[in-house]
Amino acid sequence: MTKLTFTLNGDQVETWIEEHEMLLDILRENFNLLGAREGCGMGECGACTVLVNGLNINSCLFPALEVEGQMVETVEGLQNAGKFHPLQQAFLDNGASQCGFCTPGMLMSAKAFLDEKQTNPKTVAEIVTEAEIKRALAGNLCRCTGYFQIIDAVKAAAKEQ
Ligand code: FES
Ligand code: FES
Repeated sequence: MTKLTFTLNGDQVETWIEEHEMLLDILRENFNLLGAREGCGMGECGACTVLVNGLNINSCLFPALEVEGQMVETVEGLQNAGKFHPLQQAFLDNGASQCGFCTPGMLMSAKAFLDEKQTNPKTVAEIVTEAEIKRALAGNLCRCTGYFQIIDAVKAAAKEQ
């Protein structure tokens, strides 16, 4: 077993892991954070998406050891003081979540995209386009929504920021 220390949704945490474990496994099993899900387990569906240092990654293929000293964000960290993040509210308002299986991963990829837009001085004043949203969410599959509502939700959230 190896001790792992990292920042999880803003809190410094530590846990013991087996060296072969993936980030998804320890989030679910050691921290009981069940938002990120295992769909394919092969890096294809994006249901396991979380952020590491602000970048969206497939946690099913991401070795847990690599988050030592890093910053991890999961969908559970999106709410602030009991209030939905603008993306969560926009998904709700636009009917962008149906069965909900893909939703945590979609939200986290969308967050990485909007955060990057907002912090990059070159892009901050630009309008978020549909093509950019599609590119940002290309690694996240949804079986239910047809994607239109999801794209509308990300556009709406972008206007809130
Ligand atoms: S479960 Fe990780 S990409 Fe599908
Ligand atoms: S809402 Fe069901 S898979 Fe996307």
